[in-house]
Amino acid sequence: MRSHYCGELRESHVDEEVLLYGWVHRRRDHGGVIFLDVRDREGIAQVVYDPDTEESFALAEGVRSEYVICVRGKVRLRPEGTINEEMPTGRIEVLGKQLEILSAANTPPIQLDEHVEVHEDLRLNYRYIDLRRPEMLERLRFRSKVANTLRNFLDREGFLDIETPLLTRATPEGARDYLVPSRTHPNRFFALPQSPQLFKQVLMASGMDRYYQIAKCFRDEDLRADRQPEFTQIDVEASFMDEEEIMAVMEAMISHVFKENLDVELGEFPRMSYADAMRRFGSDKPDLRIDLELVDIAELMVGVDFKVFSGPAADPSCRVAALRVPGGASLSRKVIDDYTDFVAIYGAKGLAWIKVNDIGAGSDGLQSPILKFMPEAVVDQLLKKLHAESGDIIFFGADKVKTVNEALGALRLKVAQDLGQVRPVWAPLWVVDFPMFEQDKEGALTSLHHPFTAPSCDVEALASAPLAALSRAYDMVLNGTELGGGSVRINQPEMQREVFKVLGIEEEEAREKFGFLLDALSFGCPPHGGIAFGFDRLIMLMTGANSIREVIAFPKTQSAACPLTNAPGQVSNAQLRELNIRLREVKNSS
Ligand code: AMO
Ligand code: AMP
Repeated sequence: MRSHYCGELRESHVDEEVLLYGWVHRRRDHGGVIFLDVRDREGIAQVVYDPDTEESFALAEGVRSEYVICVRGKVRLRPEGTINEEMPTGRIEVLGKQLEILSAANTPPIQLDEHVEVHEDLRLNYRYIDLRRPEMLERLRFRSKVANTLRNFLDREGFLDIETPLLTRATPEGARDYLVPSRTHPNRFFALPQSPQLFKQVLMASGMDRYYQIAKCFRDEDLRADRQPEFTQIDVEASFMDEEEIMAVMEAMISHVFKENLDVELGEFPRMSYADAMRRFGSDKPDLRIDLELVDIAELMVGVDFKVFSGPAADPSCRVAALRVPGGASLSRKVIDDYTDFVAIYGAKGLAWIKVNDIGAGSDGLQSPILKFMPEAVVDQLLKKLHAESGDIIFFGADKVKTVNEALGALRLKVAQDLGQVRPVWAPLWVVDFPMFEQDKEGALTSLHHPFTAPSCDVEALASAPLAALSRAYDMVLNGTELGGGSVRINQPEMQREVFKVLGIEEEEAREKFGFLLDALSFGCPPHGGIAFGFDRLIMLMTGANSIREVIAFPKTQSAACPLTNAPGQVSNAQLRELNIRLREVKNSS
């Protein structure tokens, strides 16, 4: 066993005999003396072999990058002039006496001793080498530390860590399921959980009172920088606590994690209603580091001679909004065209704008393709309403509410990033008062959270006006990322049946899929609620990584594959036969 980690050697170890194990980070041959930088989890130490130790010297000549070696030697101060203050171990070196090669290495496909950009596919292919990079190691170490802080906090608060099954039934969280065929029940399938939602509620019915789990969840959905098909939640549920009490404990937990691991004080989290968030930021996860806001201007536009605006201004299913960007008057035509293409991704049919070059100069101080459609008085009122100033650009969106919110909401983030208007702070908040349901394109109602979320009204009110009903749900948002979401749950079977009914889930189907939950609610189920945080997202934000793939040891690619193991893989005919499965030919999709 080692006497020390390479990275922990300091001046206080001078004259000590040490035994180190590690990887050869770099080998340098300095005319008669060989320097090996030996790396382990904790850092790098310089080891020197000189020709006096003949046998070891000969071996040292033969080692290459990433060989695994064992070094016995003595710590000494580095000679004057060779001290490296950049390295924690830079004041000492180890005079090597013995050397043993434990494992030779081929030339690694990823360079570790320089800051080279390596394609992510290659990194995932050789993840074990990629993870040797100090940056990756630090992220995983940090992840482990945060998990510990969370566990300790929850343990102190009386939450029990309880595991729930991975082979289970569908748990509706809005994504596709990963299915696992059952051999013992031909033609039947398990689903991997999209979350432990149903089990944690059943645990409340069992009287566990407070539950948590750092839980793997599986969702077959379109992947993005902050989404993986397999990810980790900090999953929490508690009985006899209302939304205020749950939010208070969870806010304390996240604040504690930031204080302990980053020495950051998050302060009290502001609250914002869903309606306000959508109106002001076009998003239910507003990034409050950015000051830019959407402003409704429909009432100014109803009468103008510009159908693009006056049409939506008179239509309750539409929105006409403006986004004033200080400093944006200097944006070039090309950049504005790029932004127009950008909002088109969200379905916007155009991006009208007004540049305010000189606010004191009347219409001469303005520049815009739409001024000709608007009476001067309207423009005046508009500028007043927006508190416009010289140097601003104002962007406009006029369309269905959803399109305007998505387009201008995304533009707000993009422009702020491009113009350096994102304040370097932590900006957490709670979003509350979500609607229970939203309407999809076909007019069917779907849950904004999940079907087990309690409404803030009674059964009759829910039945008569489901779209007007608000839920007892809350989301925690940090810097524009949805970190966690939860709610007080339905604990009355009648209410649960009504919600299923509103969602168009027939009695029989509800019984078949969720009978066990309805039963659990009918045998004495306490009022309860909970939340789940995206653990990968939390670590991504805390480490400043730009994707959750950077904080997961073995993530999947955009196409939900694992390049390291080549999963998903083929299976033998024998296995398929056992599962009673016959494969169909894959039709070329296009
Ligand atoms: P929800 O679906 O909002 O709620 O998920 C909770 C949190 O999990 C994270 N998350 C993801 N992270 C990475 N990749 C994904 N594909 C992914 N999907 C979600 C997000 C999200 O806020 N059962 C409820 C919670 C509850 O009501 O208690 C649930 O799963 O950070
Ligand atoms: P047009 O008269 O179609 O050339 O449009 C004039 C300006 O309005 C252009 O700058 C378009 O990009 C913009 N525009 C068109 N449709 C919309 C819309 N739905 N919302 C915001 N701006 C739009």
